[in-house]
Amino acid sequence: MVAGSIAQFHSTAEAVTAGIDLTGTTWVITGVNSGLGRESARVLSLRGAHIIGLARSEANAQAALTELGVEGTAIACELSDLTSVRAAAAALKGRPLHGIMANAGIMALPSLVQTHGIEQQLFVNHVGHFVLVNSLLPDLQPGGRVVVLSSEAHRMADSHGLELDNAHGQDSYHAWRMYGRSKLANILYARSLARQFELEGQAKTANAVHPGVIRTRLARHVPNPDRMFDRLKKIEKTVAQGAATQCYAATHPSLAQTSGRYLSDCALTEPIAAAIDDAQADALWAWTEALVARI
Ligand SMILES: NC(=O)c1ccc[n+]([C@@H]2O[C@H](COP(=O)([O-])OP(=O)(O)OC[C@H]3O[C@@H](n4cnc5c(N)ncnc54)[C@H](OP(=O)(O)O)[C@@H]3O)[C@@H](O)[C@H]2O)c1
Repeated sequence: MVAGSIAQFHSTAEAVTAGIDLTGTTWVITGVNSGLGRESARVLSLRGAHIIGLARSEANAQAALTELGVEGTAIACELSDLTSVRAAAAALKGRPLHGIMANAGIMALPSLVQTHGIEQQLFVNHVGHFVLVNSLLPDLQPGGRVVVLSSEAHRMADSHGLELDNAHGQDSYHAWRMYGRSKLANILYARSLARQFELEGQAKTANAVHPGVIRTRLARHVPNPDRMFDRLKKIEKTVAQGAATQCYAATHPSLAQTSGRYLSDCALTEPIAAAIDDAQADALWAWTEALVARI
């Protein structure tokens, strides 16, 4: 069979990775205990990868790996707590990695919650992953891939952009705009990583993906999730289909040279202009670096 030959809207993660042999590779996946992270762990493991599964607690990560029957390593990583993030990175230091899936996320918190003075969606979805992934990069092997989960919801940040002067969220809080901002940050972060790899001549890639609309626990903060999913029924995917784009970006041979891009439905897609703006990417990187230096 041709490796992952079908890549369409309805393709599953299993279908797009069919024929791909990941034996001997090690993948880090955040948010391994639920939804798309859990399914990605199952499928990458099915293809032979060793999974390092991260969840808020080691027990949660271990329970997921055990239930899935996945050969793997469970690590605690609470993304809103940089002590936990740094401990997770330290536990992995020196371990050769072939890929990192920055998958964990929270969505549409109904009211403003701050972590270290920063709006929590921006902190968990972007800042926590920035620290984790940057710390793991020295161990990412040549040919290694970083896949960052973004969302079509990044478009909701459009007119406001990153609004880093409102990183605390206090000037005007809007649940979806702030989620969109964090997902815009995810694309810009992947873009920065890709530029960095290229500048340093490293044969590594970084891409961001939109998985689709999938009924997972991500919607736990949405007041009436059933109504939202009913409205989006025509474009809804199953979890098996929803994990396809990230598994495709992670493993497909045709993407070995693709970096700094945004994918949806297992295909390259154009994000909003702000998401391909290198000045914005640099501003986000500098802002995040300065923030984490003082936490
Ligand atoms: N589902 C969709 O329709 C959709 C659409 C576009 C983009 N996405 C993106 O896809 C990714 C995966 O989402 P999903 O649908 O699989 O959602 P999910 O089932 O809710 O899974 C999210 C994962 O993130 C973890 N997480 C949340 N906050 C965390 C924190 N502070 N520290 C560490 N881990 C944390 C959760 O852990 P707990 O279970 O312990 O909370 C869970 O394992 C997210 O980045 C999301 O933005 C999803």
